[in-house]
Amino acid sequence: MSELPDASAWTLDPDLAYLNHGGFGAAPRSVLAEQQAWREAMERNPAGFLTRDLPGLVDAVRDQVARFLGADAEGLVFTDNATTGTQTVIAQTRLAPGDEVLTTDHCYPAVLAQLHRAVDAAGAVLRVAPVPIPASSRAAVIAAVVSWLSDQTRLVVVDHVASCSGLVFPVEEITAECRRHGVAVLVDGAHAAGMLPVDLGRLGADFWVGNLHKWVCAPKAVAVLHTAPRWRDAVRPLVASHGMSGGYRPSFDWTGTRDPSALLAVPAALAFFDRAGWEATRQHNSDLARRGAELVARRIGTSAPAADGMTSAMRLVRLRQALDEQGARALEDHLLRQHRVIVPVTSHGGWQWLRVSAQLYNTIEDYERLAEALLADIERGMDTA
Ligand SMILES: Cc1ncc(COP(=O)(O)O)c(C=O)c1O
Repeated sequence: MSELPDASAWTLDPDLAYLNHGGFGAAPRSVLAEQQAWREAMERNPAGFLTRDLPGLVDAVRDQVARFLGADAEGLVFTDNATTGTQTVIAQTRLAPGDEVLTTDHCYPAVLAQLHRAVDAAGAVLRVAPVPIPASSRAAVIAAVVSWLSDQTRLVVVDHVASCSGLVFPVEEITAECRRHGVAVLVDGAHAAGMLPVDLGRLGADFWVGNLHKWVCAPKAVAVLHTAPRWRDAVRPLVASHGMSGGYRPSFDWTGTRDPSALLAVPAALAFFDRAGWEATRQHNSDLARRGAELVARRIGTSAPAADGMTSAMRLVRLRQALDEQGARALEDHLLRQHRVIVPVTSHGGWQWLRVSAQLYNTIEDYERLAEALLADIERGMDTA
């Protein structure tokens, strides 16, 4: 078995324990070099590159990403980030007064803001299903969501992997149940591509949005939106440009001048993990996230909640005390400034959690550093956690 790449393959500051891969990803050196090569190729002849070369290059990347995600390339378009993808779908959902949109209390705050804006504008209603953690089983999570479906539900927005909790939702079953009720589903897969095997053909969601800069480790910023055939006449980019009259795909292919180098470096990111082995990478990351979270929880005397098989490369550690929003940000700042540890504090179910990620550049010493930092504070009577 070949050895997995380690931190030397990335450009991360070696002085940091970087436990927030889930935040924005991190691109390996080889991927950044490829991005730079594309930038230089473009700047040798910008007009020629952007008008003549780019369309074919984008189609080649699309075909490769479609194979990677088990997707129909006709339905796959690129956006700068998941936020743009979810907003594109949500803004074009035709809601009438009294219609309902259903999401869960794991929904990413920016997506929740998009949903609030859409329902407020239409006089519709947003329902937020509580999904407790630790989840007791897949069946419990499915029931917690689908029991909220009603005759008024028009759209369900569910995370593939939730940001606040790392919970891997049973999106196949939830999607199938929504289809039985004739309700459209938007799956927010911001973290799913790369972290989990994804087969969009099998999933059959109406809309799926996923970042490539997080767990595929492409440069920032590149994401995909996949739309099922029945919606392709209805969905257009938020910014209209030259391709608008050409239909779904062409309308997204040009939304004004932008730097396409992150998108063109996606094949290099896929190749990086093809060489490492996707399965070996996923196994490594989910094992390390579990071991790391359990280590920190054990050391500070709390728990690392998770149901079997329902987490992957992001795990939670329960904090010792309740924090408000300001306290959560202060703890993040303190861990960075005093201890050189980057870790987000998330909130779910009225409690705050440390969300630790694991990527190939992490080692168990990173989680040790976090545990030591928290313990040192506790011993000094500064029980920040
Ligand atoms: C679940 C989820 N959805 C959407 C987003 C937004 O991603 P981006 O900032 O790349 O648009 C994130 C970012 O962390 C996320 O975790």
